Amino acid sequence: MVALDGPSGTGKTTVARKLAQRLGAGYLDTGAMYRMVTLAVLRAGVDPADAEAVARVADTADFGIGTSPDRPEIRLGADDVAADIRGPEVTKAVSPVSAVPHVRELLVARQRRIIDDVVGHRGGIVVEGRDIGTVVVPDSPLKVYLTASADVRASRRSTQDTAAGRKSSVADALASVERRDHLDSTRAASPLREADDAVHVDTSELSIDQVIVALSELASHRGILA
Ligand code: DC
Repeated sequence: MVALDGPSGTGKTTVARKLAQRLGAGYLDTGAMYRMVTLAVLRAGVDPADAEAVARVADTADFGIGTSPDRPEIRLGADDVAADIRGPEVTKAVSPVSAVPHVRELLVARQRRIIDDVVGHRGGIVVEGRDIGTVVVPDSPLKVYLTASADVRASRRSTQDTAAGRKSSVADALASVERRDHLDSTRAASPLREADDAVHVDTSELSIDQVIVALSELASHRGILA
């Protein structure tokens, strides 16, 4: 298994999916799980800052997450919400929701079950998030921490938003990236932090393909499928 952590805009999602494809492994996007709970909170008309009400929504939300690196299923109730969870409303509200300890306990337990299941069936999985190497699977045989400068991350996020048809500017993306970094790394419950034994990869000057090649080599040196 590969634990892939780091802030947003580092190319983490693309790298994780392509690496999983290359290794013939499964893939889990844990950020999508926090985003789905956030969407459920917003759809229920609950204030994302109301931790108790957020915890109640998390307890009852019926969501499904797939583990195929090609096109993972992202479902809330009967709806495909792959696009909705990337919208600006969810992106804005996801930090307070993911800071609620009960939400984290619930999702971490579910992530561990999914990981065990996929490793049992497929032999390996690439898991991306913020706390995979530190909290979810601290004994992962390969932990990677991806970073990039805030400017590079904001420009990537803005390009992604524009490609997805959302209105975006680099200045807004930079403000959003910096705000989320701050909230994610200063929250009390498992803040974003690099594991001591993680391989640190700065992607500011690297293409996605260069990162994939480097990580596949690392995986094969460590003798792990994923
Ligand atoms: O990777 P992303 O941007 O889709 O993640 C959305 C949010 O979820 C992000 O602001 C931090 C949070 N998150 C988390 O707290 N722990 C994880 N393992 C993954 C994401």
